[in-house]
Amino acid sequence: MTNDPAVVFEAATKTYGGVPAVDGIDLTVRRGETVALLGRNGAGKSTTIALLLGLDEPDGGRVSLFGGAPARAVEAGRVGAMLQEGRPVPRVTVRELVSFVARTYPAPLPVAEALALAGLTELAGRRVDRLSGGQVQRVRFAVALAGSPELIVLDEPTAALDVEARQAFWESMRGYARRGNTVLFSTHYLEEADAHADRIVVLDSGRVVADGTSEQLKRAAGGSLVSFDLAGGPTEGLTLLPGVTSVEIRGDRALLRTDDSDATVRALAAMDAIRGLEVAAVSLDDAFLTLTRRTLETAR
Ligand SMILES: Nc1ncnc2c1ncn2[C@@H]1O[C@H](COP(=O)(O)OP(=O)(O)O)[C@@H](O)[C@H]1O
Ligand SMILES: [Mg+2]
Repeated sequence: MTNDPAVVFEAATKTYGGVPAVDGIDLTVRRGETVALLGRNGAGKSTTIALLLGLDEPDGGRVSLFGGAPARAVEAGRVGAMLQEGRPVPRVTVRELVSFVARTYPAPLPVAEALALAGLTELAGRRVDRLSGGQVQRVRFAVALAGSPELIVLDEPTAALDVEARQAFWESMRGYARRGNTVLFSTHYLEEADAHADRIVVLDSGRVVADGTSEQLKRAAGGSLVSFDLAGGPTEGLTLLPGVTSVEIRGDRALLRTDDSDATVRALAAMDAIRGLEVAAVSLDDAFLTLTRRTLETAR
């Protein structure tokens, strides 16, 4: 077996009616990684996933899975997917459904194993149309695992689930990832990307605006926030302080984003009459807002 990456996007684009849904994406996912595609509604997550699975062709650029065409990898059972639009729930048992799907693949996972991985062993004999929303998502997960894929792609798999069902879902995903498999999931929940992915790819208007661990994203967005009371003092020159990447004035407080809070604070301390000084780490929320600010501004 060669060592081609699981997923490669090279300058991939996809336009719907003149509007780019995917606007020049370059992305490589190595085998064994768990990657979150993080973005707001309309950021291009589902379109990216459709290109990745070969459900749609890019207008420009290239997408490959395991070094070949997406459709080939999908047919061979190397890729399993849970799409955002669920099909109607069939009136068969969990075991029947997973067995049926498994038989369509050349080298399926033993059904009992797929059920166990999805946490469905106890529910195997239950009818799928009588399960809760969280249980149905786990059935869809088992269906995605049926072909014994090396890569699994999940489009907002927990969007409609309560906290407990989400926990159970992510535990199943982790179990599958721990076997050395590759996972790509989309979400608009920052906490999910932070908690369950090794790497976060932030999409905004069809482009990758950030790519890294949550620590790297926080740094990229400006490592800390330094704030203080202006007390009528001047605001010009604050952007020139060491480390400062942006300045915001909120009422009578100045908020400085800085990638070197020590240097910024030292410079401020050298100025007279600085009151109410606070230093806080940027949260992933802050980072996400900074990285995707362009969208917010055009939306206004
Ligand atoms: N089949 C389609 N026809 C027209 N526009 C589409 C279609 N699919 C997606 N879009 C548009 O492309 C953009 C990205 O959509 P999508 O990939 O579904 O984003 P996300 O999954 O991040 O919410 C949106 O502006 C959406 O309206
Ligand atoms: Mg979507």
